[in-house]
Amino acid sequence: MKILVTAGPTREPIDPVRFISNRSSGKMGYAIARAAHSRGHDVTLVSGPVSIPAPAGVRLVEVISAADMLRAVLENMEWCDALVMAAAVCDWRPTAPCSVKIRKDDFRGPLLMERTPDILKTVSEMKGERTFVGFAAETGNPVPGAERKLTSKKLDLVVANDVSRTDSGFEVDTNQAVLIAADGTSYELPLMSKDELGGRIVEWIETHRAS
Ligand code: PMT
Repeated sequence: MKILVTAGPTREPIDPVRFISNRSSGKMGYAIARAAHSRGHDVTLVSGPVSIPAPAGVRLVEVISAADMLRAVLENMEWCDALVMAAAVCDWRPTAPCSVKIRKDDFRGPLLMERTPDILKTVSEMKGERTFVGFAAETGNPVPGAERKLTSKKLDLVVANDVSRTDSGFEVDTNQAVLIAADGTSYELPLMSKDELGGRIVEWIETHRAS
């Protein structure tokens, strides 16, 4: 299969030296890309700014903002059989980023924000026979929010993770997830390494596309 994976955060500029972002390290998405490559798939990884090395054998496309990530995903849609969106895309961006550094005495606030494009919703228009896997980053029980995202983003599978835990979600090497599929099946997985979870997600895609 040809698998397109997104990973890491996006950065939305306030001015040339400041931005809005989040805690994503890229570890989850990179683990999925590594697992897919090691299982013989052709992998393109669209990554926001992270400080971990690119997986060997994977084509890396580096992006900064949500708009850049949308462009990179659109450019690779025709090519892919499956899309896995593990990236933590910023939901808002400053409405009017300044082209020069804002001097501290010149800022009067508030900082006006607007929504970024929803990448999954945008590409769902051109889904065709492709398999779409999204994540749901929730604080507390992730299942209700994940079920809403499964439907609203037209996903085949949503990986629900509780990002308020210290051993799951952002930055750490482990994750505890519930896989919820559009056919109504769900699997509550134990806490495991992100590498192992990456393998489970790729296996799910293989089984889903073979059925
Ligand atoms: O990178 P790590 O440090 O390893 O952390 C892993 C992780 C916590 C980032 C990862 O496990 C995870 O949960 N990724 C999704 C984070 C997120 O943005 O979740 P969300 O519930 O806000 O978004 C739902 C889905 O829509 C996600 O697949 C997201 O990629 C996608 N999305 C979100 C916003 C947007 N504008 N466009 C999107 O396509």
